[in-house]
Amino acid sequence: MIQTKYKQLVRIATAVGMASALVAASLTAFAHGGATGVVKQRMDAMEVMGEAMKNLGAMFKGQVDYDADAIQAAAELIGQHAQDIPMLFPDSHESRHGKATEALPVIWEQKERFDKFAADMLRESRALSVIAGEGEQRAVRLQFAKTAKVCSACHTAFRKPED
Ligand code: HEC
Repeated sequence: MIQTKYKQLVRIATAVGMASALVAASLTAFAHGGATGVVKQRMDAMEVMGEAMKNLGAMFKGQVDYDADAIQAAAELIGQHAQDIPMLFPDSHESRHGKATEALPVIWEQKERFDKFAADMLRESRALSVIAGEGEQRAVRLQFAKTAKVCSACHTAFRKPED
């Protein structure tokens, strides 16, 4: 029963992921400033997570109806991408100096700390999925905020500030 539900969620998450990836790919061909290879790959992954967080944010602001299944699907999707983050920042010339990258060089001086943020992301998004399944909305909102904090903490430390 739980397994079936999980499989269903993964299917939804995959469908959502593919849809967002397609949308992201079409929208960001130019926005990414001509990024290629691993830089483009990680930008696409980040965009998918950004889209998922934006949708959840809209839900918590009451702009969209609360939907526990959708929260779980988004959390699973974020978790999948969180697992890929360490691999998407290899210590290579392309990765460090690829066109349009906003990754700071300090990533490769502190790779363990960087990867730990990705692990935190995975843990918090999994917790979000579990808590959404339990149904107490206040707790779900708090866990959403905790998850969002990991995104910004990593960006503050490792991504060029917006100009
Ligand atoms: C482990 C650190 C880390 C975590 C965790 C992380 N990010 Fe990022 N993110 C980065 C870095 C570094 C970049 C810049 C990548 C580049 O330009 O090469 C980035 C870039 C982005 C971008 C811009 C992509 C583009 O098109 O240029 C978005 C959007 C984004 N992240 C969203 C998120 C969201 C949402 C989360 C949380 C669910 C998140 N990130 C979690 C490190 C992280």
